[in-house]
Amino acid sequence: MDNSISITHPIAWRDGQLVLLDQTCLPARIAYVHCDSADAVYTAIRDMVVRGAPAIGIAAAYGVALSARSHFARTTSGWRAALISDIAKLAEARPTAINLSWALDEMSQAIPTTSSDPFPPLLARAQQLQAADFAANQRMGKLGASLLTPGCGVLTHCNAGALATSGYGTALGVIRSAHAEARVSQVYACETRPWLQGARLTAWELMQDGIDVTLLVDSAAAHLMQSGKVQWVITGADRIAANGDTANKIGTYGLATLARAHGLKFMVAAPLSTIDRAIAGGSDIPIEHRSQSEITHFRGDEIAAPGVTALNPVFDVTPAHLIDALVTEAGVIMAPDKASIDALFSS
Ligand code: MRU
Repeated sequence: MDNSISITHPIAWRDGQLVLLDQTCLPARIAYVHCDSADAVYTAIRDMVVRGAPAIGIAAAYGVALSARSHFARTTSGWRAALISDIAKLAEARPTAINLSWALDEMSQAIPTTSSDPFPPLLARAQQLQAADFAANQRMGKLGASLLTPGCGVLTHCNAGALATSGYGTALGVIRSAHAEARVSQVYACETRPWLQGARLTAWELMQDGIDVTLLVDSAAAHLMQSGKVQWVITGADRIAANGDTANKIGTYGLATLARAHGLKFMVAAPLSTIDRAIAGGSDIPIEHRSQSEITHFRGDEIAAPGVTALNPVFDVTPAHLIDALVTEAGVIMAPDKASIDALFSS
């Protein structure tokens, strides 16, 4: 795949470094963060320079390669323990997206068992994971688009686009494909408080692609649905339990509930790497809570009553029974449940 860094490819390996499009600055400023160590990658994930479930998995995979390079340069005999310790630290950068630990498991399996230089095979594996994610997104785009009848209004939440993946996107991949096939009349994006992934990232990403998008505050979603302008809600996912319960950006559960109440369809688009079959149901998915200041402050200015306590869970869990379609690169499941997800993996 293309190794240049851009809006459509926000993660690149360039001149021996991992280069990330800095999503904390978008859309006001295009800036890049260069990572040459696992620590730098850990910080970039924790601070949301790179965000979105598949993207943080891919970044972490490159973090493993960087770790192997630096530890092998220091000691050709003792690098393994240091590498394993860096992998454990990377896994802690953010708790909810299973793609992070999935990618780290894939990388761990690629560590040579001999004492040879681990960097070349680990770099190659990270590049494979990135390319596979891109291909999966394109496949999901086609599959998901086929569910939409021409002229649909679509609502999305957070950013599950090129910026959240190796490129193209999961939910926005479906929207891109459906738009290309003239199946979408209008895209609506929730602003996604408090981090504004919808307002800053999804709106910008779709506009760069010439896809018309209308932004709304999160609390306008019910009103929009009542107007009849939307037929599908399409989101990504951070972790899908074995029974189909799905963790995604805070507010997704509310949108799924509203969609059902208005007789609209709710689609989750996510690669197989987002499905955590070791977790039976959504109540076992760890939910990340971030700093209260993300709610009480905006760009350093206090906007809430001074001293107020704020609750900032950044993901919620949509029960499987509210999901009409789960779109993966291996196929589409209507009304997903444990049996249909098991069948998807065994097919
Ligand atoms: O906190 P974020 O911005 O990392 O949350 C991202 C989301 O919730 C996305 O919807 C999800 O990771 C799917 S990205 C293809």
